[in-house]
Amino acid sequence: MANMKPINSLINGRLAFFQEFMKHPLQIGSIIPSSRFLERRILEAAAIASAKIIVELGSGTGGTTRAILRAMPQHAKLLSIEINPNFHSLVSSIEDDRLIAHLGNAFWLKEITSMYGLGAVGADLSAMPFGAESNRG
Ligand SMILES: C[S@@+](CC[C@H](N)C(=O)[O-])C[C@H]1O[C@@H](n2cnc3c(N)ncnc32)[C@H](O)[C@@H]1O
Repeated sequence: MANMKPINSLINGRLAFFQEFMKHPLQIGSIIPSSRFLERRILEAAAIASAKIIVELGSGTGGTTRAILRAMPQHAKLLSIEINPNFHSLVSSIEDDRLIAHLGNAFWLKEITSMYGLGAVGADLSAMPFGAESNRG
């Protein structure tokens, strides 16, 4: 039964993603979260392994967040910003001291990084849809 937990959380994450997409299609921008394959490609392109401060814009249900945490150094910090409260609550449940899960608008990135006393960002991963610009406010 121990193996059921990751499967359940995968199904719950996908269901939550679909439900939120139906409510806010332009803000979510995709009907399903990124695949494992896409997660790997994103991590390769962003040079996570050598970064000290990583920022994820639009963490969704946390699949990409978990993938970044697996790939990043032990002493690095990950700031994951998500505008959707239901997604934010899923990401907040990830137990990892390196993760700062922030509920808010990623367009306020500068203010948010200084709020947490973070220095220069080493890797910046954005999964926000093109229509997300209209969320500025
Ligand atoms: C296409 S999903 C990607 C989710 C996840 N990173 C993945 O790859 O599966 C885009 C995410 O960006 C979030 N988002 C959209 N506009 C945002 C904004 N202005 N600030 C923070 N998050 C935003 C959405 O709520 C959604 O979770």
